[in-house]
Amino acid sequence: MTASEPVTVSQTGARVERLPLARYTTLGVGGEAEVWFVSTHEQLAEAMSQPYRILGGGSNLVIADEGLRERVIRLAGPLAEADLEPDAELSTPDQIITGWVGGGVPLPGLIRKLQKLGWSNLEGTVGIPAQVGGAVWMNAGTRYGEMFDGLHTLEIVTPEGTRQVTPDDLKWGYRDSGIPRNHIVSRVRLKLRPSTQDAVLDAMNFADNARKGQPKMKTPGCAFKNPGGVSAGKLIDEAGLKGLRAGNAMIAPEHANFIVNLGGATSADVHALLDAIRSRVPVPMELEYELWPEHQLLENRWPEQA
Ligand code: FAD
Ligand code: EPU
Repeated sequence: MTASEPVTVSQTGARVERLPLARYTTLGVGGEAEVWFVSTHEQLAEAMSQPYRILGGGSNLVIADEGLRERVIRLAGPLAEADLEPDAELSTPDQIITGWVGGGVPLPGLIRKLQKLGWSNLEGTVGIPAQVGGAVWMNAGTRYGEMFDGLHTLEIVTPEGTRQVTPDDLKWGYRDSGIPRNHIVSRVRLKLRPSTQDAVLDAMNFADNARKGQPKMKTPGCAFKNPGGVSAGKLIDEAGLKGLRAGNAMIAPEHANFIVNLGGATSADVHALLDAIRSRVPVPMELEYELWPEHQLLENRWPEQA
């Protein structure tokens, strides 16, 4: 299948289309792949019957210019919708447990809706341009809060089947859910605290204020996790790397943990800057980005079975 070939429909009704992935990433880099837009669990099972990757908001991804051989799954339809109706059996006066929120729901819109409802717990994640599933998978957050602050139940789908877990079942932490790569977070139930619109908005503005120094250009967010709580950006800055260019990618002058696409950057440009950072910053730092296809495809075992 090439990009010029028409859209097809799979046996179970998923829309299948060969597309340039650059369009689906905040960095704006990445070649083509066959994208499966799946709306039901049945379609998900069909899509997962061949080697696959799961794409969320594309806000933490560096995808190779050559594209991908495996299919790319994107959650759509009901798997990208949020049922925020409090669950009558699970909710209490102090705690709201929502209906199912699809992994494909855009996080920024969800956070705005929760503010309008005056429901607290997730406002610290304001400004993260992810989908719910991707944000849960890496426990995205800021120093004012993270996704696991507001999770009650997670539904996770693998080629072996579907299971529901709670945060207590997972070894989660800073930028890490403990969920193996390629296990799909299909839906979650949120755990929220009744507050007021004003209080939630104030907390959102406070958290958002910390972003003032972040670049506005195309980027996949921070490149490295903060080692031991120290800002990786500060370490890269201290190594004198702000403004370093490789091709059309650059280490942002505003904040050194952001690599930006100046226009027409390639994945090789970004990799060259990552290599420069690794070789010139004396402290070992773990990559935050997901590199496709470098990162292994399937880690099918649950952490506790490893
Ligand atoms: P993608 O980039 O699409 O995918 C990333 C990984 O998640 C891949 O391995 C993918 O397979 C996996 N994944 C995606 N969807 C699912 C799913 N449904 N189930 C299982 N796995 C899935 N991050 C922070 O933590 N804090 C910040 O403050 C922050 N600020 C940012 C600011 C900007 C301007 C940008 C561009 C990024 C920022 N990020 C931040 C990084 C990014 O938003 C997060 O890493 C986010 O969790 C990525 O989610 P995504 O849906 O975009 O995932
Ligand atoms: N700093 C520098 N030079 C730089 C960058 C930062 O000196 O180039 C200094 C700042 O002056 C400040 C300190 O380092 O004193 C911390 O900087 P900042 O407030 O920007 O926080 P950070 O630790 O660098 C983290 C997250 C961001 C999140 C912000 C705000 C990580 C890897 N980064 O950045 O998350 O938005 O806090 O809460 O944890 C992401 O994960 O993709 C991301 C953007």
